[in-house]
Amino acid sequence: MIPPSRPMSYSRGELTTLVMPHMQNVLGDLFGGELMALVDQAAAVAAIRHAGGPAVTASIDRVDFRERIPVGALVTCIATVDYVGNSSMDITVEVFAETVASGERRHTHTAHVVFVAIDESGKPKRVPRLEPTTPEERERFERAREHREQADQVRAERVKRAARA
Ligand SMILES: CC(C)(COP(=O)(O)OP(=O)(O)OC[C@H]1O[C@@H](n2cnc3c(N)ncnc32)[C@H](O)[C@@H]1OP(=O)(O)O)[C@@H](O)C(=O)NCCC(=O)NCCS
Repeated sequence: MIPPSRPMSYSRGELTTLVMPHMQNVLGDLFGGELMALVDQAAAVAAIRHAGGPAVTASIDRVDFRERIPVGALVTCIATVDYVGNSSMDITVEVFAETVASGERRHTHTAHVVFVAIDESGKPKRVPRLEPTTPEERERFERAREHREQADQVRAERVKRAARA
């Protein structure tokens, strides 16, 4: 039985991976597409936990590649559901790279991903409301709500432009 609401902390997803040689680009660093896959997986963990069932990636809004991550580093993706609509969930994924020898851990990337919960026939399905409880969670919720409003406007403009073309 899926509850009507869930605390924000319930769905937090964390994924740690060793950057292996098959994941590198020509410079010997983690390939951008591999990083996107890790981000998507971490977001999926948070989404299906919150939804209590299957959910699909609707959009990956933004990934800022600020720093290169070398082969041999540990990469951790932490995903949180920061806002929900009816069936959609706005998820922030923070990426950290850790140098094993020194234990140094750096925040290297942030991504915003939208997942949509689906039913057995693949149609959008309502998700539980989100309950931010701490001041930090309430701040994240507000930030994500503003981000959602802006993203919806951009998407609506894009749809209008495509219809005119
Ligand atoms: C995502 C998907 C389920 C949406 O279905 P749809 O019938 O177009 O949905 P609707 O237009 O009724 O919108 C449903 C919700 O999705 C949101 N949504 C749809 N497309 C979106 C997009 N591109 N970005 C952000 N949110 C989106 C809507 O805002 C709406 O949110 P709400 O229910 O919280 O109000 C459908 O487009 C789909 O199955 N896409 C393919 C997904 C996929 O293959 N992903 C990669 C592999 S997991």
